[in-house]
Amino acid sequence: MEVDQKEEQSKSSEYQEKYRPQYHFTPASGWMNDPNGMVYYAGEYHLFYQHNPDSTVWGPMHWGHAVSKDLVHWKHLPIALYPDSLGTIFSGSAVLDQNNTSGLGTKDNPPLIAIYTYHNAKLEEAGGNKYQTQGIAFSVDSGRTWQKYKGNPVLKNPGIKDFRDPKVRWHEKSQKWIMSLAVKDKISFYSSTDLLEWNFESDFGQEKGAHGGVWECPDLFPLEIAGEEKWVLLVSINPGGPNGGSATQYFIGDFDGENFTTAQEETLWIDYGTDNYAGVTWSNVDDKKIFLGWMSNWDYANIVPTENWRSAMTIARELSLANVNGTLRLINKPIENYKNHLQKKSYDWEIVEQDSFQIKKASELTEINFKNSFEDHKGIEITFFNDNGEELLFNINFEEDIVSLDRSLIENHNFSPKFKTVQKAPLNFSSDQLKIEIYKDASSLEIFINEGELVMTALYFGKKDLNRMKITSNKNMTANIKASDFKSIW
Ligand code: FRU
Repeated sequence: MEVDQKEEQSKSSEYQEKYRPQYHFTPASGWMNDPNGMVYYAGEYHLFYQHNPDSTVWGPMHWGHAVSKDLVHWKHLPIALYPDSLGTIFSGSAVLDQNNTSGLGTKDNPPLIAIYTYHNAKLEEAGGNKYQTQGIAFSVDSGRTWQKYKGNPVLKNPGIKDFRDPKVRWHEKSQKWIMSLAVKDKISFYSSTDLLEWNFESDFGQEKGAHGGVWECPDLFPLEIAGEEKWVLLVSINPGGPNGGSATQYFIGDFDGENFTTAQEETLWIDYGTDNYAGVTWSNVDDKKIFLGWMSNWDYANIVPTENWRSAMTIARELSLANVNGTLRLINKPIENYKNHLQKKSYDWEIVEQDSFQIKKASELTEINFKNSFEDHKGIEITFFNDNGEELLFNINFEEDIVSLDRSLIENHNFSPKFKTVQKAPLNFSSDQLKIEIYKDASSLEIFINEGELVMTALYFGKKDLNRMKITSNKNMTANIKASDFKSIW
């Protein structure tokens, strides 16, 4: 049975829980981690997700399912994939098999195909190392019901423990499906003409990027910049993120249907905050790359203080390439739909030559457009706070070229010492003109600097709501500020 979100869920008290996000996707109840199988089809964005319906901690994985028409409002659907004799259902992707290359649908009714990892816990317990394999399932009714393919697994394990998270896309030039697979400390590429038989092509990454932990959840896609096609490879890593625990790095390079190559030397992160992991993009969206991440961190995901549910997704973000201070970067910024669909009320202010400015009621979205240059400023600080003495500090230090986010003054952080640390990022955005957008929800902040040149996403669990905000600097600032209250999506 489909649950109509507006009619049913708005009545339910679980969406009023203290830390329940009001405009981010959360499961109605139970545990959630990675976004999976994101595919657009027949006017709907499908979101599947790693789900343990029976508990609020990680356990036997299913694919939970929801759909949206605008990427803002979601309708929960029944669980799409249950564990079976081959294993539980780990992360993976979904594609529209438009030409019915798999033969699992028809030309007139092409199938949606989900490609996922089977994790066989029994084989793992028995001490083997071939317990992760790749399987597929298909749907011929717009994703409402799914059948597992009889010939599963379609890709067997060669004897490597970490062998998972297939992300599949169609490669136009070679007329093949390409699977990017996380294999321990590298990404392996496989190709197929029918999604059923897969051939190894190449490996990437043992000598590149961060290697503080296992590689997971890859995504490979092209993006254009100045008329040129570049390929982006997202790779999540756990642990080994820039601020501890899990995080997602990216590589910009080229892909010829067989090999991914890059001249990139630096390790780059899609988000420097602690709470954006395993993010990938929607398939079958022609003109855009839309990204969504799991808004948590394996360092403490299982013990954050929420009650009937655990974990939210980030807001949906559009990815693009840009030259930032002479280097190619992956930009991620919120899709416009949040502002367009959720805006309830907005307030405008001008700060003229002031070194401090306070807002009595912090809104869901605060956009700060500075008009002054920061050449002579030591830094600026944005503080979210409340009358309980709790503070969340976001600081840009122009002297040391460091951006930091400090949630140690939020009272409810004692569930994990790892939650207290100050998060830091190198200041790499163009600083002559500064624009900061902050999306705040019941237990998260997503901070976008200069339209997504630098992004920090972090959870917080205050005793009380951080309902006030101030901006301070050592010198005068001139800025426009717009604050917007959002309607709840539930
Ligand atoms: C990433 C991950 C994946 C795996 C899934 C299991 O967060 O560890 O590699 O498929 O979660 O739930």
